[in-house]
Amino acid sequence: MVERTLSIIKPDAVPKNIIGEIIKRFETAQLKIVAIQMRHLSKKEAEAFYYVHRERPFFDSLATFMSSGPIVAMVLEGEQAISKNRSMMGATDPKKADKGTIRADFGGGIETNVVHGSDSPASAAFEIPFFFSQLDLVR
Ligand code: CMP
Repeated sequence: MVERTLSIIKPDAVPKNIIGEIIKRFETAQLKIVAIQMRHLSKKEAEAFYYVHRERPFFDSLATFMSSGPIVAMVLEGEQAISKNRSMMGATDPKKADKGTIRADFGGGIETNVVHGSDSPASAAFEIPFFFSQLDLVR
């Protein structure tokens, strides 16, 4: 089934000049970019995006980190895009991520883990319109 998922290249990755490398991996895996933007979130915007984690002990630190520098938000489209993106990313903690995954290759720690990806159709349905309107999505 063709799906769409939200991918974010996080503030730790942008200064490492690996945006192109990450996008190349997605494209090589037949995940097509149908919308893309670079922006610097405010802390309030980062809190709103990660609202689902508001009760977690790492919430404040996560919002501070995600608003610490520019990010690249993208919508990826392809067969099983949600699970395919998650397996390409690897486990949340880069130390536990499988070899060859984006987080294993470029991650620093559980917070500086390079990329975010929607974890379910429900989260994609919240996260895609958080960044993009219908008009931004290429058909
Ligand atoms: P992400 O996939 O973007 O979803 C929530 C993020 O919270 C997660 O990646 C991690 O970067 C971050 N995070 C920070 N600390 C933790 C933690 N202890 N457990 C899980 N996620 C954490």
